[in-house]
Amino acid sequence: MLKKIARSVAWILVACAASTAGAQYPDKVITMIVPFAGGGPTDTIARILAQAMSAALKQRIVIENVGGAGGTIGAARVAQSAPDGYTLLVHHIGHSVASALYRKLPYDPIADFEPIGLINDGAQTFVARDDFPASNFKEYLDYIKANKDRVNMANAGIGSASHLCGLLFMSSIETEVMTIPYKGTGPAMNDLLGGAVDIMCDQSANAISHIKSGKIKVYAVTLPNRLASLRDVPTAAEAGLAGFSISVWHALYAPKDTPQPIIEQLTVALQTALKDANLKQRYSDLGAEAVSENRATPEALTRQLKSEIDRWEPIIKKIKGYAG
Ligand code: MLT
Repeated sequence: MLKKIARSVAWILVACAASTAGAQYPDKVITMIVPFAGGGPTDTIARILAQAMSAALKQRIVIENVGGAGGTIGAARVAQSAPDGYTLLVHHIGHSVASALYRKLPYDPIADFEPIGLINDGAQTFVARDDFPASNFKEYLDYIKANKDRVNMANAGIGSASHLCGLLFMSSIETEVMTIPYKGTGPAMNDLLGGAVDIMCDQSANAISHIKSGKIKVYAVTLPNRLASLRDVPTAAEAGLAGFSISVWHALYAPKDTPQPIIEQLTVALQTALKDANLKQRYSDLGAEAVSENRATPEALTRQLKSEIDRWEPIIKKIKGYAG
């Protein structure tokens, strides 16, 4: 009998804590973990979002870059953080492939997180150093196949979006090249600009400014349709890789057991931020598109994450040999 009373008192205390949790939240700075190095596309998407969400929440949001292992180190940090709404994760499609690529993950991508909502859809671009000897996507493919032992491809580590794109790319052309991992495609881009690496599949959010300034070459984009901000660049599918398509979607998460009133406040702040004209324009200029309000919800993100895990698992099992 005593045990029953103790348990119901405990639940009443938890319920009170949860109901008051939302009352004063947020009353201190919120940290948004980006699981890749600063200066890359995930960092860029997150900083633009943090600015708009900070205005909506009337509270400062700081970005902390925790790179390494394709984003899994940063994701683990958030999974192990206090569920108080003051540590959030901005991650992308990589969160749905980590369990297929890592034998032992220190977290469960679904069970250890509270989904808040999707942020944006985005394209990747096939880019190369500015003196790469190919003037179109067909020549790019032919050169890579003919020189596979000399060409190297940068990525942001196993499980990153650039790694996933590289996996699909190498399996599509049945050619494996050497891959060079970085803590993010921000630092990788520096080496591409310097000619230290040859090619990369990078989010347009990172590559577009260098493409437009002519400092790197671009051959194709990875969405089924061309980008308004790169209208002259063909899609990989139309330029020679039939059916090739990857969209890099970003999303916002909190640690599991974060009280629902706080998740609701964060969801509303996310939806408000994604309607901000300045954010929408900046995303669009980067080749990213803010999602509509009905996708910036915990339910929509859960559906997306589960369907992407189901979609990529069999593909990765088949092409893992190109894991690099
Ligand atoms: C990726 O390849 O996963 C991202 O581009 C990494 C990053 O945002 O730096």
